[in-house]
Amino acid sequence: MMRILHIILLSLIVVSCNSEPNKNEQSPTTKESTMNSEIDQKVATLLSEMTLEEKVGQMTQITLDVVTKGDNQYSSSQPYSLDSALVHKAIHSYKVGSILNTPGVPLSKEDWYKTIKIFQDEAAKTPRQIPIIYGIDAIHGVNYTIGATLFPQQIGLAATFNKSLVKEVAKVSAYETRASSIPWNFSPVLGLGRNPLWPRLWETFGEDVYLGKTMGVAMVEGYQGTLGDPNTVASCMKHYLGYSVPLSGKDRTPAWIPERELRQYFLPAFKEAVDAGSITLMINSGEINGVPVHASSFLLTDVLRGELGFEGIAVTDWADINYLHTRHKVAETIKDAIKMSVNAGIDMSMVPHDFEFAELLVELVKEGSVSNERIDSAVSRILKVKMQLGLFENPVTDPKNYPDFGSDKFAALSKKAAIESFTLLKNKNNILPLSEGIKILVTGPTANSMRPLNGGWSYNWQGSEADNYADDKNTIADAFSKKVNTTFVQGVTFEGGNTIEAAVKAAAKSDVVLLCLGENSYTETPGNTNSIIMPDNQIELAKALSETGKKIILVLLEGRPIIFNEIEPLVDAVFMGYLPGNYGADALADLVYGVENPSGRLPINYPKHPHAFVNYNHKHSDNIVVPNYYESDYDQQYEFGDGLSYTTFEYSDLSLNAIEMSEDESIEVSVKITNTGNRKGKESVLLFISDLYASITPEVRALKGYEKIELDAAESEIVHFTITKDELSFVNENLKTTAEPGDFEINVGGLKKKIKLK
Ligand code: BGC
Repeated sequence: MMRILHIILLSLIVVSCNSEPNKNEQSPTTKESTMNSEIDQKVATLLSEMTLEEKVGQMTQITLDVVTKGDNQYSSSQPYSLDSALVHKAIHSYKVGSILNTPGVPLSKEDWYKTIKIFQDEAAKTPRQIPIIYGIDAIHGVNYTIGATLFPQQIGLAATFNKSLVKEVAKVSAYETRASSIPWNFSPVLGLGRNPLWPRLWETFGEDVYLGKTMGVAMVEGYQGTLGDPNTVASCMKHYLGYSVPLSGKDRTPAWIPERELRQYFLPAFKEAVDAGSITLMINSGEINGVPVHASSFLLTDVLRGELGFEGIAVTDWADINYLHTRHKVAETIKDAIKMSVNAGIDMSMVPHDFEFAELLVELVKEGSVSNERIDSAVSRILKVKMQLGLFENPVTDPKNYPDFGSDKFAALSKKAAIESFTLLKNKNNILPLSEGIKILVTGPTANSMRPLNGGWSYNWQGSEADNYADDKNTIADAFSKKVNTTFVQGVTFEGGNTIEAAVKAAAKSDVVLLCLGENSYTETPGNTNSIIMPDNQIELAKALSETGKKIILVLLEGRPIIFNEIEPLVDAVFMGYLPGNYGADALADLVYGVENPSGRLPINYPKHPHAFVNYNHKHSDNIVVPNYYESDYDQQYEFGDGLSYTTFEYSDLSLNAIEMSEDESIEVSVKITNTGNRKGKESVLLFISDLYASITPEVRALKGYEKIELDAAESEIVHFTITKDELSFVNENLKTTAEPGDFEINVGGLKKKIKLK
């Protein structure tokens, strides 16, 4: 049967490759559905042969440490090895369909291969020979494989405003993930980073709906390519829905999001990624408006399946069914929790520590509390994804077939992404770029470690092992020392170490100070914070250095915007580096010395005050200024979209092919951009639209288009955008996405024009 399926799949791929684009021809979606219906038939046959225990096993996902030796398998001091009795128990007794995670340390790609091959060989001995699907968080490259190419984290990729670059990065990540024998990637994060306190803000594409959804699609397309191609992986959109804005800012704490806002801000990225073909999705661990998302049949079935038409796997997040009982207290027992969540619409439970889910779900079906139809729909989706990925024919990809893993060309791509992500926010008197003869002091807690360059999910969950596994890569101090006359003095450490006096002495002997501040690596709950004001010792270092009178270039390596208004006036230049990955320091050195020209733009507002967080697309009443009487707090350190270059760009000739349109018409916008400086540079051309009056208070402005271009000195280019009803729409009081007739203002690079929707 496997062989037949393989032939059918191949012939379908051939058919789709040979087809000529033609208006009357089947659209790609129709072609996919033909292929899907073949797979659907195979799934139905297989399903009809399966026992209840086998089906429930497919819905069970365990973490790797359940089948490894020893008690504390996450301890990096303990050598990792599989326990064959436990592997047998998982695959034969419980018929487990999926395994995830790392053993606490990264593995070589060869060890991943051995591990996954053992699972697949066991699965091949079961009556139905259904391969397991292994899943991993390869969120900035396959970050749990030794020697893999680590890229900037998502927030940095967003700052590039370069969709094709992001797609390329995702493609390489997929290739290296398959080189590690893993076909399923728990990425991208499609939540919006709209709460600066949240410890996973850096895992998002920033705060904006349009940027988030377009970057999300680029990443899904890069990961998945053509399904079944062994160089690609299944993407996993996460965390559906509304995970990124807990009210307290702390991970997995309650969110309060009115349905209108859920639909306007948080749903679009998922909708677009579903339309782009993403085949799996992970659920938000938190609760919204008092309802844990894992128990919400409204979100998991009505909206996800009914409205979005998602047909892939919905997997829970870590232990989240159990948390319905132990944390959220909506289920009196674990068994009730399983019933609640499966009936709400989950397909697979990331259990992940034991087999209780499988045992109790069998009982629930036998008792009639969960229907066979519900189980069948979940298992069909799981089998279908396994078939779409080609796992039945090729259950384990062999690293030998991936010669480009960890190659120089992939490193160059990572460096390119880092270069385009660095965002120059201040450059007083054009202090940058520096000339190479200048003596530089490199100092600060983020200056000589690979941890703050990579952030969490790097070699291990918290990224704490980066200095051991990336010691062949350059820290900022390394990269500058290799290039120019550099002195390095730590200044302060995250742990409270203080060599400020030595740093001040070294500054006195240098021409310029490169001050590297920010955060150490973290993610999820360990990254929760009670304050995002820059720590006192970093402020103290900055002040002491400023007293030397030397020029200071501040570099921020951080996962969220750390407030530094106290020292901002003391520094001459500011680079926001986000978490630029293993080649971030090399990228920075090239930028500081003008080998490269900065082109990143902020994908978030950078707040100035600790109690005044406002997103850039705020409401007019967020900014009430009544002189001498009342002023609101819309006063940002830097705004979404900010970012400087070493050259200058002039915008001119904003023109529209019409100034009025009806709902089924569109308006073409064009604008001329000229590089008026004396060096080549890249520019992100951003188009904002303001709805001037609307039934729901309109946003001051919202991003509706962007394009990154590169221009030589004195070169010009015309950039085009199309405005349709979609760009003018919002979610109204009746929860309908609608465009209301009236006036809108287009703004590109400060040039403005009005249009009217009839
Ligand atoms: C995170 C997910 C991740 C999962 C598996 C969870 O704690 O919230 O983003 O994919 O663990 O590692």
